[in-house]
Parts: sequence; C-alpha cells; structure tokens
Amino acid sequence: MKHVTFGLVAVATVAGLIAFVVPAPSHAEGEPAPFVTEIPHGYRDWQWISSAHEAGSLNSLGAVLGNDVAIKAYREGKLPFPDGTVLAALHYRYVPSDENNKVFGQAQSFVPGAPTNIQFMVKDSTKYAATGGWGFGHFADGKHGDAAFMKSCFPCHEKAKATDLVFTRYAP
Ligand code: HEC
Repeated sequence: MKHVTFGLVAVATVAGLIAFVVPAPSHAEGEPAPFVTEIPHGYRDWQWISSAHEAGSLNSLGAVLGNDVAIKAYREGKLPFPDGTVLAALHYRYVPSDENNKVFGQAQSFVPGAPTNIQFMVKDSTKYAATGGWGFGHFADGKHGDAAFMKSCFPCHEKAKATDLVFTRYAP
C-alpha cells in the first residue's frame, strides 16, 4: 500500500511539474479568444492620435486616443507597439450642427452627436496571443460586445499587418 501511495504521489508531482513548465495555451481549442471586458481606466484623458469619419450606414465620427505608451510609440515610430499600449476609438453619430450652420450662413458644419460605442485595442502579447497580441474591446452603453461579435475584429484588423494591426496614423 505504501508503495502505491508513493507511486501516486510521484505521478501527481511529475504531472504538476509538467503543468508548471509547459505554458498553458492562451485559450483552449474551440473556445473564443479572450477579449477586453472592462473599460480601461482614464481613457477620456488620453491624447488624441487622429479622427475618422465613416459615412454610409455607420454615419460615424470617431476620435482615436492613446495612453502614454501608445503616444510614445507613435512619436518614435516604434513597431510593433509595446505591451501596455492601449488605443481607444470613441465613436459618435455624425450630425449637422444647426448652430454652426447659422453662423456660416449655409449648411456645412458637422459635429459629434450622441455617442454610439467605444472600441479599444490593448496590447498584451501573452494574454492576447491568439489575436495578434491585441485584445479587442467594444462597449455600448457600458456593456461589452459578446464573444460572437468580438470575432469580427481581428480578421479585419489583420489587414493592417504592416502596422501591427493598427490602421490609424498619427496626425501631427
Ligand atoms: C471591416 C473591418 C473592421 C472591423 C470588422 C473592425 N475594425 Fe476596427 N478599424 C477598422 C478601420 C479601417 C479603422 C480605421 C478607420 C476608423 O477608425 O474608422 C479601425 C480603427 C479601429 C481602432 C483605432 C485603432 C486603429 O486600428 O486604427 C480601434 C481601437 C478598433 N478599430 C477596434 C475594433 C474593434 C474592437 C472591433 C471589433 C468589435 C473592430 N475594430 C472591428 C476596420 C475594422
């Protein structure tokens, strides 16, 4: 009996060691890749990188902001972006401004309307290895997108492979 117990302990110990040495895959086979489920703290105070207007059904006006790590990397032209980089894309309805148009005397002014969603890209090359080292986040009314919706981000952003999956250029 003593023998059997010793054998079991030995097997358990070896298994434990192997589990310790072999890094666990970032996500199990068939499970959705991890994505960002909490709004990064303080994003509204970050610096502006650029803006983009998407017409069509999106009809959106977006501002892309970055934390200090992001701004430094952009200014130094550093690629790939280092771990700790966080990019935020704040999206609003693209609406005409009657107030501004009155001043100009013609319809020409558009401004951010109601907020629609905020999207994030968080660089952590270990945690988000399955999606190019970037964790994607999408929040509308403070709630994050579900796993099925979040699957769409990485395949499209992969098209910007040459710039580490990031489309936005730094506006001087
Ligand atoms: C059909 C392609 C496509 C899909 C799908 C897509 N994006 Fe993007 N994304 C873009 C493009 C193009 C830009 C740059 C233009 C803009 O900001 O409107 C962008 C910009 C961004 C930015 C600003 C940083 C950058 O790369 O320029 C973030 C953050 C972002 N997307 C997050 C997301 C998240 C989160 C999802 C999934 C919910 C997502 N995107 C899905 C194409 C896509």
